[in-house]
Amino acid sequence: MVEENVNKMSVEELKREILRLKEEKNALIMAHYYQRDEIQEIADFIGDSLALARKAAETDAEMIVMCGVHFMGETAKILCPDKKVVIPDAKAGCSLADSCDPEEFARFVEAHPDHTVVSYVNTSAAVKAHTDIVVTSGNARKVIDSLPEDEKIIFGPDKNLGEYINSVTGRKMLLWDGACHVHERFSLDRILAMKKEHPGARILVHPECKRPLQLIADKVGSTAALLEFASKDDAREYIVVTESGILFEMRKKCPEKVFLAAPAEDAECQCNMCDYMKMNTLEKVYDALLNETNEIRVDADLAARALRPIERMLSLS
Ligand code: 13P
Ligand code: SF4
Repeated sequence: MVEENVNKMSVEELKREILRLKEEKNALIMAHYYQRDEIQEIADFIGDSLALARKAAETDAEMIVMCGVHFMGETAKILCPDKKVVIPDAKAGCSLADSCDPEEFARFVEAHPDHTVVSYVNTSAAVKAHTDIVVTSGNARKVIDSLPEDEKIIFGPDKNLGEYINSVTGRKMLLWDGACHVHERFSLDRILAMKKEHPGARILVHPECKRPLQLIADKVGSTAALLEFASKDDAREYIVVTESGILFEMRKKCPEKVFLAAPAEDAECQCNMCDYMKMNTLEKVYDALLNETNEIRVDADLAARALRPIERMLSLS
């Protein structure tokens, strides 16, 4: 529980205390691009899922505070079993990871014994344990391209990313029927209307979005790939079709450009935000550091089975 006096601290005091505790405990604060602005501000490292996994694998910090969702903390723990890995809010899950029940997935895999199993990093350790190679949206194409052309492949759990990879590689991977509730809520009609108002704007789309949105994109890519595209491209305006936390880093990297958060189907709600990612607050980061709460633990045998496909990914990309 976040202590009561934490609520009385100002944002600046909280930030100071977090930075002091971080030094004292030799902790590394990592944040995904979808985190609240103030968390990105105090993080030692901000990245997409791939960069977070890579950084976790190489850090010599004694403790990792993973400001993201549960599977990101779990991946870091699997990569660094001897380090303490904590997350600010234990309830910060992921609808995409939840769309893949490990037992059902195991049955699906068993039913296709001649297939190589490729899973998105947005999965539980139990799903990774049934996987041959893990991918992120940042390296999925490269990993799939590294497999022989005639290899039969199961891809899960994100059917939209799977469809995208099938379309760019010409493969016919067998797709698990899972999706992210945030990326599936974007409205094609409202984005096209926005484009009419901003005809010069480029459309940047995360591959977790549905196929029709991928088809109108100037760039489809992971959060890091969209950021890189925007920073090298010569347009002035961008319609950003992914979780709106990414706008913080985009505006920081390219202050002269205009980034517009793409609208979701429900005009009444801020549906382009991931409620799981936004569960993390500065107060909870402070609490996790101070009291070492919400420590991620993974059973040693499960961790060993989940590590193999993660390491295979890291060696391939
Ligand atoms: P990337 O940062 O790898 O693009 O992933 C997006 C995402 O949905 C993370 O939860
Ligand atoms: Fe999961 Fe979607 Fe949130 Fe990413 S944005 S953490 S995929 S629910």
